[in-house]
Amino acid sequence: MSDAADSARAEQLRSGLVDALVTDGVITSREVETAFRTVPRHMFAPEASLEEAYAQDRLVTKRDEHGITISSVSAPQIQAMMLEQAELGPGMRVLEIGSGGYNAALMAELVGPGGVVTTIDIDPDVIDRARRFLKEAGYPHVNVVLADGEQGCAEHAPFDRIMVTAGAWDIPPAWVDQLTEGGSITVPLRMRGLTRSITFTRVGDHLESRSARVCGFVAMQGAGRHRERLLLLRGKEIGLRFDDGWPADPDLLNGAFEAGDARVWSGVTVGRREPFDTLQLWLATALDGFCLLSVDKDLDSGLVRPVNRIAAPAVVEGAGFAYLTVRGVDETSVEFGAHAFGPDAVRLAETMAEQVGVWDRVHRTGPGPRFAVYPAHIPVGRLPDGLVITKRHVHVTVSWPAAQPSAAGQRVPAPPTE
Ligand SMILES: C[S@@+](CC[C@H](N)C(=O)[O-])C[C@H]1O[C@@H](n2cnc3c(N)ncnc32)[C@H](O)[C@@H]1O
Repeated sequence: MSDAADSARAEQLRSGLVDALVTDGVITSREVETAFRTVPRHMFAPEASLEEAYAQDRLVTKRDEHGITISSVSAPQIQAMMLEQAELGPGMRVLEIGSGGYNAALMAELVGPGGVVTTIDIDPDVIDRARRFLKEAGYPHVNVVLADGEQGCAEHAPFDRIMVTAGAWDIPPAWVDQLTEGGSITVPLRMRGLTRSITFTRVGDHLESRSARVCGFVAMQGAGRHRERLLLLRGKEIGLRFDDGWPADPDLLNGAFEAGDARVWSGVTVGRREPFDTLQLWLATALDGFCLLSVDKDLDSGLVRPVNRIAAPAVVEGAGFAYLTVRGVDETSVEFGAHAFGPDAVRLAETMAEQVGVWDRVHRTGPGPRFAVYPAHIPVGRLPDGLVITKRHVHVTVSWPAAQPSAAGQRVPAPPTE
């Protein structure tokens, strides 16, 4: 294909992608739409075909020695979602942690000629590529810096916006210190194994969430790296993944399967295609010993039937555990239940099923959880009510404003307070 034909084809594919993101409600602002229509995504992954470059999928650009993705051009729908969350405006100074070039170019379009974009990455290969592609695509003014995101980028601070595009477990002090008062950080933050892209606004010494969306990202490397711990049961058939917290005596669980099991159905149903991400977070908030259960698809004996095979909410207590399961109700809906193993299986399953009921009655139609981030030196007693997850640098609090009853007695979401 000639260069002219290639470029016409790229424009056509780009236009189709943006139309789809607008139709799906992922792009909601004219500014983000214009940026996506302007920046040539294919120039940031020249090894991909044009069709791949404009698909709603990430473009893997680097893997580690085990084949695990460590760098990519993120999926366009995730980039659009996060840019909408971040609300970049003309003249802003912004920092992107985790580079590649394409998202930095979108940010450069959004802040315009009066703004400044700095993009940093821990990997020299990624930085070389980003620098080259940004120049070739017409964004030579973006600052491209090789650095560990843990320290932010003091050289170009302060920032009105920080956008983190690697999965973070913690919020290091540099990010807050390098933020202007009223500035915001958009970060895929992992809490109890569940990642949400959260936009936090700086309010004095702490951060308060403005919006949260489900997402997944390659893990942060460098000083901020934090690995989940995996407990394998029945050989390698069942895995329990702990983000924080680890059973006092994990060996006790080996006897759980012989001790008996129990299933308790909650009476709470959900559409087969309906998201239930707030239920996962609610169970993570309400149940001690929370973890995520997975089943190896090649070794699956059918003993456990989790709500999904990759990461089902679960809880470990002593010599037993319970996880979230479902059974079909009809063509379109399923009912949640809890399935437990161990000497106290009935009580464990009842407790989890009861919390599914609490979610359904109190939080399902509510405004969803609010998150806040406080420096770790603040005593837990001074933090807002709710779950406190203590990380290396900060406490993350997860609180659940309840839905407010309407005049007719139905629950309606409480109005946003920010
Ligand atoms: C999903 S990619 C970034 C995608 C990119 N923003 C884009 O334009 O689509 C995640 C990147 O984060 C980088 N990364 C991981 N840990 C980091 C750290 N501690 N500091 C800076 N970059 C990091 C990886 O090297 C990888 O290139």
